[in-house]
Amino acid sequence: MAKITKLDDIVSLCKRRGFIFQSSEIYGGLASCYDYGPLGVELKRNVREAWWKSVVKMRDDVVGLDCSILMHPMVWKSSGHADKFVDLVTVCKKCNTRTRVDHLADHACEHTEHVPVETAMADAANLDKKVCPSCGKIGQFSEPMAFKLMFETQMGANADDTMTLWLRPETAQGIFVNFRNVLDSSRVKIPFGIAQIGKSFRNEVTTKAFIFRTREFEQAELEFFCEPGTDEQWYEHWKEQRFKWYTDYGIKKENLRFRDHDPDELAHYAKACVDVEYKFPFGSGDWQELEGIANRTDFDLRQHQRGMRTINDWHEAGRDVTKIALKEETEDYHKGPLSYFDEQQKARYIPYVIEPSAGIDRSTLAFLVDAYDEEEVKGKTRNLLRFHPALAPTKVAVLPLVKKEGMPEIARKIYDGLKGCFTTFYDEKGAIGRRYRRQDEAGTPFCLAIDGQTKEDNTVTVRDRDSMEQVRINADQVKNYLREKLDM
Ligand code: GAP
Repeated sequence: MAKITKLDDIVSLCKRRGFIFQSSEIYGGLASCYDYGPLGVELKRNVREAWWKSVVKMRDDVVGLDCSILMHPMVWKSSGHADKFVDLVTVCKKCNTRTRVDHLADHACEHTEHVPVETAMADAANLDKKVCPSCGKIGQFSEPMAFKLMFETQMGANADDTMTLWLRPETAQGIFVNFRNVLDSSRVKIPFGIAQIGKSFRNEVTTKAFIFRTREFEQAELEFFCEPGTDEQWYEHWKEQRFKWYTDYGIKKENLRFRDHDPDELAHYAKACVDVEYKFPFGSGDWQELEGIANRTDFDLRQHQRGMRTINDWHEAGRDVTKIALKEETEDYHKGPLSYFDEQQKARYIPYVIEPSAGIDRSTLAFLVDAYDEEEVKGKTRNLLRFHPALAPTKVAVLPLVKKEGMPEIARKIYDGLKGCFTTFYDEKGAIGRRYRRQDEAGTPFCLAIDGQTKEDNTVTVRDRDSMEQVRINADQVKNYLREKLDM
C-alpha cells in the first residue's frame, strides 16, 4: 500500500483535486490560512457531521451550542488566556529566524502544541547548547520574550467607547459561560455534556505544516460535566469513545495512539491530559496530536465565578483587563452562581469537567492522508482515496457510457432523482475508464454507468470504488441500494 511520505505530496494532491487551496493565492497567499475547494468543503462538512452525530445526536446526555466568536474580554481574564496564553520565543542572531523556545529543546518539535509558559521558562534558562532549526547555528539566541497568541481587535464605533476584544482561541469558554443558561433552559442533569463546533484563532509562531497548524481553524469540543469523584471514570469513558470514533470512520489502528502528558506539559487547568496522536507523514517522529482529552476539574467554572465578582473592577479600570486582578474565591464558592444542585446527592457543588477537544481541520487532514492509496491495475497506477462512505465528499457519480443514443438523457433523469438524497456528480465527458479513475481519486464510493442495456431493461451498473466490482441492478432500486450501502 502506497503512503504519502511528504507534506508536499499532500499539498499537491489537495490542490490538484480541489480539496484545499492556499488562502488569497492570486495575491501570493496568506501564510497559514487555507481555503477548502469543492471536494474539501464536502469532506470537511462530513467530518463535522460525523463528530456531531457521535458526540451529540447519538447520545442522550449531550446537548449542542453555537456561541459567538467575539466574547466579553473578562471571559479571557477569568480563563487565564489574557495573562498566560503566550509562547516564549527567541530570535536566532545569525539568521533572524524566530522560534518557540520549547521547540529548541533537545527533544525539538516532539510536542508541537503550546507548553505552559513556566515550562518554557525553564528551557529558556539554557539556550547556549540549542540549535537553530533554520540555520543550524548553536547557542546564538536573543533574550526570550513572550509572544501573545490571541488575535486582538477593537469593538465600537466611537473612539471613547471602543474596547479591546480577542478572537476566541478555543471554543470551550463559550460553553463554560453558558453553563447556567443551558442548565436553566433544558432538562439536563449531571452527568451531561455541552458540545460546540466552531472557529478558533491563534497567532501561531510555528506554522508551515499545511492545515495541521493554522492561525484560523475549527475546533469540535465537548465539555462533559460530572460529579467530582466520578471524573476519572468519565475521563476513561471519553478516551475510549474518541479513539473509537477515528477508527470507526476509517483511520487505521496502527496509525493512532494515546500519549499521556508529562506533568510539566499539563495546562494550568488540567489534572490529567492525554493526546490522541496520529502518525502524520511529516514532522520529527511523525506522531502528532490529533485531539487532546483533558480533565479540567472545576477550574473554569470557579474562575468564571471569580470573574463575575470582579466585573465592577473592570469597569472602574477603564474596561482594561490588564489593569485588574481577579477577586479571591469566597469560602463558600461551591454554592456560587455556577454551582449545581444535585437532587440525588442533596448536595451543591461545582462540577468537574472532562474535555475531549478535537480539530476539524486536523482530523480532515488525517482522514485524507489515511485514505490515500495507490495500486497497480493492468500495469497502470490507480490513485484512490478509500474514504469511509460517510466522509466521502461525493457519494455517487452518474456516468452515461457515451454522449449519444439517449444515454445522457436517461443518466440525467437518474441523477436528478438522486441528488436530493446523496451528494451526486454527473459526468459525461471522456472515456468511461478515465472518468472512473477521476472518481477513485476523489474518493467517490460508487459510480453508476448507463449503457445500451439500460434502454432495453432499465438496468444500470454500479461500480464499487475499492473492489472495482460491478453489479447490475434495476434503475428503480438504485436509491435503496445506495441507502443501504452508504448507511444513510
Ligand atoms: N480547549 C482545549 C484546547 O483548545 P488544544 O490542545 O490547544 O486544546 C485542541 O486544541 C485541538 O484543536 C488540537 O488537538 C488540534 O486538533 C486543534 N488545534 C489547536 N490548535 C490548532 C491550530 N493552530 N491549527 C489547527 N488545529 C488546531
